[in-house]
Amino acid sequence: MRRRMATHGKKAAKVGRRRSLKVAGIFAGVGGLELGLSRAGHVTKLLVENDRAARAVLGERFEGVRLHGNVTTLSRLPARTELLAAGFPCQDLSQVGQLAGLKGEKSSLVFEILRLLRRRRVPWVLLENVPFMLYASRGRALRLITGELEDLGYHWAYRTIDSRAFGLPQRRERVFILASLENDPRDVLLAEDAASVSFPRRATGVACGFYWTEGNRGLGWAVDCVPPLKGGSGIGIPSAPGILLPDGSLITPDIRDAERLQGFPSRWTLPATKVGERHRWRLVGNAVSVPVAEWIGRRLGKPGEYDPEGDERLRRGDTLPRAAWCMGEGVHRSGASAWPARRQPRALLDFLLHSGKPLSLKAAVGLQKRLRASSLHVPRERESALRNHIDRLSREDAKARLAA
Ligand SMILES: C[S@@+](CC[C@H](N)C(=O)[O-])C[C@H]1O[C@@H](n2cnc3c(N)ncnc32)[C@H](O)[C@@H]1O
Repeated sequence: MRRRMATHGKKAAKVGRRRSLKVAGIFAGVGGLELGLSRAGHVTKLLVENDRAARAVLGERFEGVRLHGNVTTLSRLPARTELLAAGFPCQDLSQVGQLAGLKGEKSSLVFEILRLLRRRRVPWVLLENVPFMLYASRGRALRLITGELEDLGYHWAYRTIDSRAFGLPQRRERVFILASLENDPRDVLLAEDAASVSFPRRATGVACGFYWTEGNRGLGWAVDCVPPLKGGSGIGIPSAPGILLPDGSLITPDIRDAERLQGFPSRWTLPATKVGERHRWRLVGNAVSVPVAEWIGRRLGKPGEYDPEGDERLRRGDTLPRAAWCMGEGVHRSGASAWPARRQPRALLDFLLHSGKPLSLKAAVGLQKRLRASSLHVPRERESALRNHIDRLSREDAKARLAA
């Protein structure tokens, strides 16, 4: 039987006046969540991360903060933890993953969070994951996690948020779940909303990001921004996206620009090279966009007032919406958009500070095939630019073979 919440049926207490929370960052990666929260005035007291390359970054960037390895060997959270923050592994929940859901070896690690909370319930919990978790097995994973949080006495709200709302030219949607023992998480996560910003749909005159490793459905194509940076890909390796520039050249961005596309300072993941150069893309792709975490951090210190008028209670079997909440009695759909803020993203071309690397022949041919098979509208001059790029690289390739 579910434990009843103290404020069952009533509006929970307003968030306290304290601005600075003590944070335990679990599955910390390179600290996107923690960096954003610290920019909003919160203080990280513990980081838990078992990947060597990520630990090398955390060790330098969060100097002096206790760093623990495997979460399964952490017996309990520090005594005065006020916020547990965790972007738990998503390989089994994402579209490119194995779709094993929470039974998957990686994503089932979220149960470690629940184990820690059972031992020590902390006032606030912030979880992050891919939006596919709303749809995989009709949202079973999310329902399971939120159900467990309810059992522990938490109120919760979740919201899908697009990183472009914070001025980053990266189309990246992630689901943020915020749970609280005493306060109203809706006031933090759902109260602020901006009308969505309009984006160019046509590829003319702007840079376009893409992945050549994805199918033909246009999933990876992004106009005037890059598609979500990834820690892995359909072919199992972390890959940089390609960018088709307005002048027809094709590049993959520099890792320093990729860090900036996630809101990190340039060179943030440089310490990972002590473990190996190739890790940086994976770490950046796995991270939480820093300005999104910063926004949530600021709202924790200064919440708004959410108006739930018109939010309908979900019925059994309903598909999970992009934002919802539960204050003890049933799950309600929220109309909150993926745009809490409204900072017009900078044009991708203006955003990039480094020239990047020319796209390889193999990748360019892959893109050409994908574009031909898809229904995407690509201006004719772009297609011919792509053909020229391929011809040039083929000639260079042939010359190199002859010379060898
Ligand atoms: C989705 S990433 C989190 C990214 C992070 N929020 C950031 O902004 O960089 C999940 C992280 O969980 C870590 N992880 C996986 N298994 C773990 C374990 N058993 N103990 C600790 N960390 C683990 C992975 O190495 C990975 O860095």
